[in-house]
Amino acid sequence: MSLTQKAIDILTKNDRGGYTIPTSGLYPYQWNWDSAFVALGIATYDFTRAWSEITTLIEGQWPDGMIPSIIFRSDDPDYFPGPSRWGNTLGPIPSTGISQPPVLATVVRTLTDNATAQDKARRAEVYDALYASHKWFHEARTVAGIVTTVHPWETGRDNCPEWNIGLDGMTVAPDLAPYTRMDNKHSDPKFRPSQEQYDKFLTIVQFGQSVGWDQRRLTDEGPFLMADPNIHFVLLRADKDLRAMAVDLGKPTDEIDGWIDKGEAATDYLWNDDLGAFTARDVRTGQFSGGFSNCSALCFYADSGTPEQRAKTLENMERIAARVDYMLPSWDPDAADFEPQRYWCGPLWPQMNYMTALGLSEQGENAMAERVRADLCRAIEQSGFWECFNPVTGEGCVSSQFSWTAAVWLSWQH
Ligand code: DGY
Repeated sequence: MSLTQKAIDILTKNDRGGYTIPTSGLYPYQWNWDSAFVALGIATYDFTRAWSEITTLIEGQWPDGMIPSIIFRSDDPDYFPGPSRWGNTLGPIPSTGISQPPVLATVVRTLTDNATAQDKARRAEVYDALYASHKWFHEARTVAGIVTTVHPWETGRDNCPEWNIGLDGMTVAPDLAPYTRMDNKHSDPKFRPSQEQYDKFLTIVQFGQSVGWDQRRLTDEGPFLMADPNIHFVLLRADKDLRAMAVDLGKPTDEIDGWIDKGEAATDYLWNDDLGAFTARDVRTGQFSGGFSNCSALCFYADSGTPEQRAKTLENMERIAARVDYMLPSWDPDAADFEPQRYWCGPLWPQMNYMTALGLSEQGENAMAERVRADLCRAIEQSGFWECFNPVTGEGCVSSQFSWTAAVWLSWQH
């Protein structure tokens, strides 16, 4: 069977009727950015079904505009932390109380870019929801002009060592309710976050509950507050895509222009001059994380950063490319805490390679774009459709039969 057919089979198997789970067992619900990438893959063979990936995700949007990271349409005892642990969240469907990198507007623009009447109608159908979700990031999650994040899960890069400075600065709630992890039952604990990290992840959830999921309070008073190059660059790119759709639909652009200006100014905030790279930063202390990650080069995807910053970013990529066989590791092989098989401490991630390769090729950096693209394809050919891959050996890590890996493969075959 061809890999393309295998990819379609995985997406079909993970279909739960209108939305797709990332993989059975470990992730049995609808995840925010997973669904967005999945839509790109399904659109290569069934556009109507791909579109429902987007509309079902929007069904979970909160009245304040936030699109949550996970939508719980059931209560699966095999997953923790499920709906009961998140408590009384504020959306129309039980969900988490945090968001995820907002790739959705970019995906919608990509899928509706043929300028047909139907494309325009589809853009009109979801435009207000996308707009509200961006406004939420710019209002509820912004501190002094910088878009922030309150939880490593919100960044999508759960245990990346980038978060250590923020996590080290917080303590586990003394009254943290006891719990049993389920993730380590579905995958080898050596691939997953540590127990201390999990306790801190749940401490933040408990804080969110204690303020009734008031998102402004969670940002201003919560135990963790960092700026993430992933959320920053993904949002900046998505703001630009939202603006293009606003123009197409004859909608006003003034507020979006303000968001884009604010975003361009904030890019510099994430520039770690010692490393010559965009890295995460603790917003309360100003401290930078100490390594190049697989979102450091998303400056190309967002078309942001100075020529000098871009040149240094490419130098870092060349350095890393000489250290691993498969670009682009999620954490710097020359930094502390690099672990090639542990989730976001080293493995390469399909959706990050997709965005990085796209940005590099859009900005004319074709050789590095091709390396990032071809290395992921080689890893898939060697090991299958895993959640992520060891960048040294190409072996699959965490979960197999993974939806976004299948989706990225399909989107690249067309
Ligand atoms: C998990 O359950 O590990 C997820 O990454 C949370 O979003």
